[in-house]
Amino acid sequence: MPSPILTFPPMGIDKISTLLARNQSHCRPISLAFGQSDFPIQKYLDLTLQAKDLEKVLGYGDIAGQMSLREKISSFYASTLGVHLPVSQILITDGATGALVLALGLLVRPGSKVIIPAVGYAAYPRIVKMFGGIPISAPLDAEFNLLPDRLPDLITAKTAAIIVNSPGNPHGNIASLEILAEIASFGIPVIFDEVYQLMTFAGDFAPSGTQLSGEHFVVNGFSKSFAVPGLRIGFLIVPPSHAEAAESVKVLLNICPNLMGQLLAERLLKAHQSYLRSCHNFFLATCDRYYVPALRNSQAGFYGIIQLPEGMDSMTAASILAKDYAVATAPGKDFAETDPGFLRVNFTKSGQDVSEGVRRIAEFLAKVNPEHLRSHSLGVSSLSLS
Ligand SMILES: Cc1ncc(COP(=O)(O)O)c(C=O)c1O
Repeated sequence: MPSPILTFPPMGIDKISTLLARNQSHCRPISLAFGQSDFPIQKYLDLTLQAKDLEKVLGYGDIAGQMSLREKISSFYASTLGVHLPVSQILITDGATGALVLALGLLVRPGSKVIIPAVGYAAYPRIVKMFGGIPISAPLDAEFNLLPDRLPDLITAKTAAIIVNSPGNPHGNIASLEILAEIASFGIPVIFDEVYQLMTFAGDFAPSGTQLSGEHFVVNGFSKSFAVPGLRIGFLIVPPSHAEAAESVKVLLNICPNLMGQLLAERLLKAHQSYLRSCHNFFLATCDRYYVPALRNSQAGFYGIIQLPEGMDSMTAASILAKDYAVATAPGKDFAETDPGFLRVNFTKSGQDVSEGVRRIAEFLAKVNPEHLRSHSLGVSSLSLS
């Protein structure tokens, strides 16, 4: 019998990248598909390494992560959100992915159910299945947050966890602390995935599961907020009751997390937010220029959502764009069981790529369904898609 993880179809986004690489068009390839910011972090990060720094990172380190980094994370939460987090509750992981795997590994047994957002990060149902669990999709409200009122109908004796992602991928929605508290009030452990927590366009910090009491887990990391996914440094905040077990499982996953990554993570400054705001404004202005319908009320993260015409399959649209227009986007079908009919684009790429990428998407939409663009033309009737 195949492992449950293999019963999932491959991710559309990977296929789209292959199509982009093989595309026969004469255009310069542009990828707006993957979740990596082009923020020039090296300008803000001291990359000078001395022999003494290197010597410190060649042996094994602490299972739960280096104490100095965990202390800095604890102080960071104290100074930004006023939350006191003992370092014993903070474990450094291999990216936020390692934190999700650890949290779900601690909570899920074969046959357990895990409630996940109906449209959300593609890895959730896959990791749940990897542990023999069953993902259960929960509906979202008009702002793309989980609807707490609908959760009691989905909760059963087998429910092992609820995953909340705020700020959310792909929609950039932010759940209020009241919504988070309601979700946390059902006596089921909540895994708050907050990897975009520092990336609000308003420049403040999004409400966090760390501000709530209870047996909950918080996933975070440096890949998104600090634009260094290559360091593979994330962290999991566990409730005190799980701290010991978390360390016992974690040692089996990686013995200790990458020390060089932890050393650099400690040096990072919080400098990403003004970059994000200007990229988001530029993306929306570019969509307006070409009458491309984009989700306007996202508040965080680095993804733009481009709505496709009614009934258009997102994988087909993304494949044509990659093959014929040399622009890669993430198809909405990667984020939900039923195709939500959108393309996700990363708007933190260079202004040139975003502008040209959106122009090509507009050209494609103008060809397949000009009405779709016209209905978003804000009263301007003629299209000038050269
Ligand atoms: C919501 C969400 N959680 C977790 C991750 C994984 O992050 P990392 O690269 O730190 O493993 C991602 C990556 O795209 C994400 O979007």
